[in-house]
Amino acid sequence: MTVLEAENVSYKYSVGTPFQITALDRVNVKVEQGDMLAVIGHTGSGKSTLIQHFNALLKPTEGRILLYGKDINESRETAHNARFKVGLCFQYPEYQLFESTVYKDISFGPANMGLSSSETDERVRRAADFVGLSENMLGKSPFDLSGGEKRRVAIAGVMAMEPEVLIMDEPAAGLDPRGRRSILELIGNYRKKTGRTVIIVSHSMEDVAGVAEKILVLNRGSVAMHGSLDEVFSRSDELRGMGLDIPQITRIFSELNKYGFGLKKNVYTVEQAKDEILRYLHKGGNAK
Ligand SMILES: Nc1ncnc2c1ncn2[C@@H]1O[C@H](COP(=O)(O)OP(=O)(O)OP(=O)(O)O)[C@@H](O)[C@H]1O
Ligand SMILES: [Mg+2]
Repeated sequence: MTVLEAENVSYKYSVGTPFQITALDRVNVKVEQGDMLAVIGHTGSGKSTLIQHFNALLKPTEGRILLYGKDINESRETAHNARFKVGLCFQYPEYQLFESTVYKDISFGPANMGLSSSETDERVRRAADFVGLSENMLGKSPFDLSGGEKRRVAIAGVMAMEPEVLIMDEPAAGLDPRGRRSILELIGNYRKKTGRTVIIVSHSMEDVAGVAEKILVLNRGSVAMHGSLDEVFSRSDELRGMGLDIPQITRIFSELNKYGFGLKKNVYTVEQAKDEILRYLHKGGNAK
């Protein structure tokens, strides 16, 4: 079932000024229920603009956004409801923390949904626990936490709204390698546990390869590719033309195969590479 659809969506910033710019140009995309989709593209390709359409923060200049087949901009009410059904976590969300305690920050979203205080309380504790924040952190000021912890608070705030679609703009940006891995793992676990639709925006093919199942590639405001990892990564030359690249480990394997190693082509993460090398060695160096 299609959850979200962009139907011929174009979006222009600063219309009627000398700075007018077409950020999205006739985008057609369908996001299916349960998708774990990564949106990838060069800087300025329109990723953030597109996802802000998905929860009605931006309204298409042309075209429509459909949520379960209905135009989300049909009325103020439908747009308002879309904000709860489609949860959006901005890039560097920790800068948007503003409450005096972690608890209040996480409860802001669910409390605004008109839930009872006991339901809100349950959700806050569940979300905090899920992102790995301990009970005793809930009473702290968010400003006393580390960068990685703050990011978790912000993510928990969106998760506590229990949106049908969770969208995260560059969730791992600016974190050290360990922090990146742990946030991506968290997102993978969320998807496994809830089975809900998740969309992440990323610059990094390596990150995407470890967590996503489908990839949408944007290039200058248009859809360049949309498909499985196998489909997208098999078009490495085109990706390179858009300033993108396949994961480094995939490139290494493809180079090794040029020397006749006969390794699997669809190796996208170091973990998968390890398994494939072990398999190769077990077979006495003859993978075929
Ligand atoms: N608020 C704004 N006002 C005017 N132009 C904007 C605004 N936000 C984005 N743009 C322009 O729209 C285009 C698409 O920007 P967008 O932020 O959607 O790209 P992006 O793919 O998210 O980039 P990045 O990877 O740098 O986050 C770019 O040319 C950008 O300069
Ligand atoms: Mg962006």
